[in-house]
Amino acid sequence: MLIKRAADIAHSEITPKSTYLNRRAFLAGLPAAFLGARALTAGTKLPNVTKSPYSTSEKINSFNDVSTYNNYYEFGTDKNEPSVYAKGFKTSPWTVSVEGLCAKPRKFSIEEIMALAPLEERIYRHRCVERWSIVVPWIGYSLSTLLKQVEPTSKATFVAFETFFDRKQMPHAAGLDFPYVEGLRMDEAMHPLTLLTVGMYEETLPPQDGAPVRMILPWKYGFKSVKSIVRIKLVSSVPPTSWNKQASNEYGFYSNVNPKVDHPRWSQAQERRLGELRMRPTLLFNGYGDQVASLYNGMDLKKYY
Ligand code: MTE
Repeated sequence: MLIKRAADIAHSEITPKSTYLNRRAFLAGLPAAFLGARALTAGTKLPNVTKSPYSTSEKINSFNDVSTYNNYYEFGTDKNEPSVYAKGFKTSPWTVSVEGLCAKPRKFSIEEIMALAPLEERIYRHRCVERWSIVVPWIGYSLSTLLKQVEPTSKATFVAFETFFDRKQMPHAAGLDFPYVEGLRMDEAMHPLTLLTVGMYEETLPPQDGAPVRMILPWKYGFKSVKSIVRIKLVSSVPPTSWNKQASNEYGFYSNVNPKVDHPRWSQAQERRLGELRMRPTLLFNGYGDQVASLYNGMDLKKYY
């Protein structure tokens, strides 16, 4: 084997940064293709996904339930429309800008997001404000991992999310102002349960479920879980949220699942799991109270709904 001394090594022979980053991704358990030229398409198998201790042991819904009964108003307002109208949605190339009150704002490609941390499978209950619930094996890692990369300043007290909108690709968008926006308090955003989600059922997300990257907040109503994120901004005041702009008396900023706080037009005390006929009692914080109740100590949950 020929051993070269540093002085003999031409610049062109030194491993470029991109290759080195590729290797790191590989070591983290991802195929180099994630950082290479190959487009990340929906339904790509995600390797080396670890099981999360945060998972519920409840029965998982079928892939069909989760991918054909969706709310994604950019692709139509009926539950069966997103799986039809989101077909062919272009999710590559894709970047997420993480910006605002932080020391190191920057854009992340979806491949960089995929490679930032080991991916975990988290089987979460997910409760929609419309009283249906599902159990899904989501794949991702805690949003805090991404936010720490940009070093939020002490002035960052809220996080604002903005999602993709392109009328050409989304001709059936209706019912809301677009782009869809959402927000969290900083401590909610940094909570370990708050999942930056890139896959489900061992694969990358289908377009109708929010490809290529969405949030999942298992203790909040489903509309807080924004799909197809393009911007995450650290801010110092409560950010606007799409459903609150639409009907502020019906949809508050916090939107924590709470069986004792009714929606003005219906009770939230019960829910129906997709695929079942019976109603089940809804649990405070969707059953995640042990982990998240302390975030709301001393707050009147009827006032801050
Ligand atoms: N994100 C965007 N961009 N657009 C939407 O219309 N709908 C929300 C949320 N995220 C929505 C969105 C609502 S109302 C719900 S209940 C959940 O997505 C549904 O997620 P699911 O289809 O994966 O169950």
